[in-house]
Order: sequence, then C-alpha cells, then structure tokens
Amino acid sequence: MVAHPPVYVEGKTGRSLILVGEPLANLERHIAGRRTVAVTDQNVKKHWQHLLAGMDTIVIGCGEKYKNLVTVEFIYDQLINRQVDRSTLLVGIGGGITCDITGFVASTYMRGISFGLVPTSLLAQVDASVGGKTGVNHRGFKNMIGAFNQPEFVLCDPELLTTLPEEEITCGLAEIVKHAAIGDPELFAFLEEKVAAIKSRDLDILARLVHRSVTIKAKIVNQDERESGPRRILNFGHTFGHALEKATGIAHGRAVSIGMVLAARLSQELVGLPASESDRLERLLHDLRLSTRLPVPGAKIARAMAMDKKRQQDTIFFVLLRAIGRGQIRQVSLATLQKWLSGSA
Ligand SMILES: NC(=O)c1ccc[n+]([C@@H]2O[C@H](COP(=O)([O-])OP(=O)(O)OC[C@H]3O[C@@H](n4cnc5c(N)ncnc54)[C@H](O)[C@@H]3O)[C@@H](O)[C@H]2O)c1
Ligand SMILES: [Zn+2]
Repeated sequence: MVAHPPVYVEGKTGRSLILVGEPLANLERHIAGRRTVAVTDQNVKKHWQHLLAGMDTIVIGCGEKYKNLVTVEFIYDQLINRQVDRSTLLVGIGGGITCDITGFVASTYMRGISFGLVPTSLLAQVDASVGGKTGVNHRGFKNMIGAFNQPEFVLCDPELLTTLPEEEITCGLAEIVKHAAIGDPELFAFLEEKVAAIKSRDLDILARLVHRSVTIKAKIVNQDERESGPRRILNFGHTFGHALEKATGIAHGRAVSIGMVLAARLSQELVGLPASESDRLERLLHDLRLSTRLPVPGAKIARAMAMDKKRQQDTIFFVLLRAIGRGQIRQVSLATLQKWLSGSA
C-alpha cells in the first residue's frame, strides 16, 4: 500500500490529522500510552473482532435508529461504570453513525475528552470522519443535536473496506463523485478511467480516491469550519437528494446521485453548464452502479422540499456546477426549485 501524505483539518477545537492507508493495527501508535475506550457497532465487531481483541470496547446497535440520545446515554453509563476520566481517549471504530455518535459523546462527556476515529465504511472515510461535525438525530430530525469538534486523528484503513457490503461501497462512491464534481476535475477524470478497478474493489485505487476526496473536503472545511459560507458547497446534490430520501426512503448515496444529476441539469439553465458535462456526470454515476433518474414524479420531491421543517427561509443556498470540478453556491428561491422540479419529470 502506498503511503499517502497526511491531511490536516485545522479547527477551532484543534488540529485533526488524517492518515489514509494507515492500518487499524497501528492504532496503538496514535494512542500514545493513554487509557483508551473504543466504540464500535455490532457488524464491525463481528468482522474485525481479531483486531479489537484486548481493547476495552463499547458495542452499539447498527443503523440510523440507534443514532440518538438513548445510545449516547448508554455510552455515558458505560463510561461512568468503567470509571473513565478526562484523560481517557475515546476511539470510534465504525461507519458514519459510530463516528458521529463517538464524536458527540467525546465532546460532552465530562465537558469533553479527546477522541480519534477509525472510519470503516467508505462513506465514513471520505465524508463523516472529516470536518468535525458530530451529533445524533432527535425526534425525527436528522443530526439535530450535536457539536463541532475535531478528532485528534482519523485513520483510514482500506483493508477494512473488504467486508463492507457492495451497496455501502456504491453509496460511498456518490460522495467521492460529489467531491470531484465540485472541486477536482482530475479526480473526476481518474474516476472515469478507473471504473472497472473501483468496481472490483482494488484497494490501492480506493485508497487513492479516499485520499483525494479527504484532501478536497479538508481544504473546504479549513476555509469555513462552521458552514457559514464556502462549506455549503459540500451540499451539492443534497438539496434534491434529501427531499428524495425523505419522500421515497431510498438510500442516501443513491438519492444524492440523482440529486447531483438534477442539479447539473438545472446548472445548464442557470449558469450555462454544457450539456456534455451533465452527460459525463450522469454516465460516471451510472457506470458506478448509482441511480441517476427520479423514481417518482418531480412534483412529489417538490412537495417534500416544502415540508422540510428545519428550513426557515424561502431561499436556499443551492450548489450549481459551472464545469466538472467547479461548483458554485447560489441563492435560489424554493419556488424556483419546486417549479423546475415539477416540470423536469
Ligand atoms: N459528520 C459528518 O460530517 C457526516 C457526513 C456524512 C454522513 N454522516 C453520517 O454518517 C451516517 C452514515 O454513515 P454510514 O453510511 O457509514 O452508515 P453506518 O455507520 O450505518 O454504516 C453502514 C453499514 O455498514 C456497516 N459497516 C460499517 N463498516 C463496515 C465494515 N468495515 N464491514 C462490514 N460492515 C460495515 C455498519 O454496521 C452499517 O450497517 C449518517 O448518520 C450520516 O448522517 C456524517
Ligand atoms: Zn451525503
């Protein structure tokens, strides 16, 4: 495995070191002698038990329904029972759910303890473990309770991806395509060139994708950790994607994939993106086995957008593409988006 250069996120709460290609077996080096408690989920424990053996571990349930304050309380109780104090390091080893929950617990337990992450899903390696957003869902609202807090370190071990179900790999790829589309035309071309290797899970290629993807996200987060401006560009495909997810229940990665195609088509009208560029995006997503077409009428998605209770304003910071590799944030009215969606399918 090629050693990739370290990537850094510089947050208000500290600097985060991201190492791509670093094996979980090397975790000890980053713990630096501290007492450590790991948080993982049942699936990850089942597959990677041999690497977790000997670690003090808290195991949580799998799935979005466990990403809540009940699980947070369960972990607090476990930490108290084990007499964990402020000098202890918490390490989340799992998918995005484990990473988000671990970060939140570490941010709040005894007013904050140090934490590190070992993301085990592709989505967690390229997205959830990078950028310092931690938190849980509450009363049906996604990520409603949380904190910004940077992990001390993030270790992305490509080997861990070998046990990931294919659908999870596919969904993680949507976020990599997103990063390429908004900020890295070379990565986009690399994805186009390596479709076959990606589909066969070539770990060297996956590690390169993770490294490039993390580099793009870290660069954006370093400009705007709290998402008051430039970080919004990471929402490319997500405005339509979230509405689609809510309306149909399809997987996040698939919804975002369709959302990106729609946003590219809209970009043709609003900022003159050449149709050939939208076609490239659609072709790549399709070749990676992602969804590219709305499974329901656009009007249904338009209605779901209006029902987003977290939204207060009539305009949305919408991400358009000027070219492949060049995203642009623009305020668009909800009414414009709904009208366009209703007419688009
Ligand atoms: N904090 C952020 O910036 C951020 C960004 C994007 C997404 N997220 C959050 O991430 C979550 C989604 O992440 P996810 O897709 O990783 O979900 P997840 O944590 O549920 O993992 C997906 C599935 O794969 C399993 N799994 C994970 N690693 C495995 C492995 N190596 N082998 C076998 N099975 C494995 C898990 O048990 C789970 O069933 C959402 O809650 C989302 O809100 C957070
Ligand atoms: Zn996403």
